[in-house]
Amino acid sequence: MKRDIKNIALAGEGKKRIEWAEREMPVLRLIKKRFAKEKPLKGIRLSACLHVTTETANLVSTLKAGGADVVVCASNPLSTQDDVAASLVTHNNIPVYAICGENKQTYYKHLQSALAHKPEITMDDGADLVSALHSTHKHLPVFGSTEETTTGVIRLKALAKMGKLRFPVIAVNDAQTKHLFDNRYGTGQSTIDGITRATNILWAGRVVVVAGYGWCGRGIAARARGMSARVIVTEVDPLRALEATMDGFEVMNMIKAAKIGQIFISATGNTSVIRKEHFLLMKDGVIVANAGHFNVELDLGNLRALSKLKKMAKKHVEEYMLKNGRRIFVLGEGRLVNLACAEGHSAMVMDMSFAGQAMATEFLAKNYNTLENKVYPLPEKLDKKIAGLKLASMGISIDALTSEQKKYLNSWESGT
Ligand code: ADE
Repeated sequence: MKRDIKNIALAGEGKKRIEWAEREMPVLRLIKKRFAKEKPLKGIRLSACLHVTTETANLVSTLKAGGADVVVCASNPLSTQDDVAASLVTHNNIPVYAICGENKQTYYKHLQSALAHKPEITMDDGADLVSALHSTHKHLPVFGSTEETTTGVIRLKALAKMGKLRFPVIAVNDAQTKHLFDNRYGTGQSTIDGITRATNILWAGRVVVVAGYGWCGRGIAARARGMSARVIVTEVDPLRALEATMDGFEVMNMIKAAKIGQIFISATGNTSVIRKEHFLLMKDGVIVANAGHFNVELDLGNLRALSKLKKMAKKHVEEYMLKNGRRIFVLGEGRLVNLACAEGHSAMVMDMSFAGQAMATEFLAKNYNTLENKVYPLPEKLDKKIAGLKLASMGISIDALTSEQKKYLNSWESGT
């Protein structure tokens, strides 16, 4: 079987960890059982560009159970769990192109390998496959694609707005069962986890600056506060800044925050959020990390130019010694800190995100020829179904409207 992975001998350990994650993914397990019976993806060639983690392994084995002919490539050079890649090849017979620490050239070679599969459906986390399908692989016919993350959805909507999108895309990220949980609780916890694993810092009493108050920033700020840090939020959007203020955070611009922060975390999806003028104001020994999809949020080019020395302080921690004598520690090369320095989100939350991916794929397979070349949300019915199944798996029951209440909600008269 074609593949490019680090070490096939890691498969045994990978299998155990994949099974551990599966215990926490009851919704995906139900979908897998149904897929195995109904085979809704029978014979469909599918290429998935995702973080190769234990949770992703459970998703791709679900797609395979549904009849799909799946290959996987990495969506980030540092997020691959090499034992998982080995297990997918060995135990699931799924070709994988992903090596933790791969360079840019290998990263793109792996994307090309996934596209050489001639996928009919693609699955992206960051829109790199779709991007290639609009540049180097313009002529490959594709039914449709699904997208996992905010950054990818933004790229795809830009493509659609220019009228250039070649096929329909389901924005799984925009499902409520995805961003309200994965982006907020998943990123919130896994970002704290990544920084803790890389540095073993104590959070209590630290001044933490969170750039961006979207769903990820909200989650990170809440969790940092939960660790007794003093949390400052920076924003460009007045509504979000106001919300952060009323959520009880200190809000200020980055120029001010740069002088007082001790740990900086970017979660904006934008470029050069922490840059030259900020680095120059930072205290000695600050820690800087990125929780956004691409490694563009920290302007590391300029940080290098400002530095007289750069070395590895320890695994995952680069020390930049500025010409002014102060030191700045950058985690995970400025890439997604939760996946570069830890294991990403917990399976409990990826269960819903990947249930959305599996259902979006099934929806595309059944409906692609009736869809336009647009970015679609996951149908609300499916979103609600995932929420219902998740609640049931947690043993939580909720009320149902009585017929009197339904009638009341549908009438225009007041109750008096
Ligand atoms: N994105 C964030 N966490 C993840 C995980 N555990 N698996 C796959 N993608 C992720």
